Amino acid sequence: KQYTALLPAAGIGSRMQASIPKQYLSLGAKTILQTTLESFLHHPLIKQVVLVLHPDDCWYQKLSVSQPHKVLCLSGGEQRADSVLAGLAKLAADEWVLVHDAARPCISHQDISALIAQVEASQQGAILAYPVKDTMKRGNAQQQIINTVPREQLWHALTPQMFQAGELRDNISAALSQGLAVTDEASAMEWAGYTVNLVKGRSDNIKVTNPEDLALAQWFLSQQTD
Ligand code: CTP
Ligand code: MG
Repeated sequence: KQYTALLPAAGIGSRMQASIPKQYLSLGAKTILQTTLESFLHHPLIKQVVLVLHPDDCWYQKLSVSQPHKVLCLSGGEQRADSVLAGLAKLAADEWVLVHDAARPCISHQDISALIAQVEASQQGAILAYPVKDTMKRGNAQQQIINTVPREQLWHALTPQMFQAGELRDNISAALSQGLAVTDEASAMEWAGYTVNLVKGRSDNIKVTNPEDLALAQWFLSQQTD
């Protein structure tokens, strides 16, 4: 069985402070978006990629992407969740979809496979995640410590996150209409009462967010063997 990947790539990358959206910055020979896209296009369990671009995007057409017939491009919205909803609108309700940030180019084939295997075994939604390592503090507005938050139960939420398209669409829409901040797919599913499984992923699956992340991502990619 093969699956669809949905890549939100419609952001402007304001925290990167570059002159172009961060997904079009180069990591060695390829741009971030091309690196992410090709990881999915080359994965044997992925049949197509729904790629959500900014309505004014003029860079994607300049990339030379392998297997372009497997990529469906469409326009995103104001927030990441709006861009994800735009992509979900193209999918059948009962189809399982892997939503993955275009800004996470170091995603490995083994992590994509592990996520799919967990969903196939459980028939429940799941996300890649990584256990928190540092001691965690809750702080107040004056940056004074309120307390220490036990870290045993804390995970960093990564992507891809895999859910059934129809349920995900309904729950993101409902959560947004309740004023919830939907910063990942799981937050809408948890809120709606679904069981969501955590699949331990690799810590190099970073989201390129700030300028210093670029060199880090490039180094992680240079270390990859699969
Ligand atoms: N994204 C999107 N549509 C939006 C906002 C974000 O498709 N309206 C995508 C980004 O392109 C990125 C992913 O969601 O691949 C994660 O978002 P983030 O890292 O926050 O990227 P940006 O929003 O572009 O960056 P910033 O928040 O610094 O402006
Ligand atoms: Mg953003």
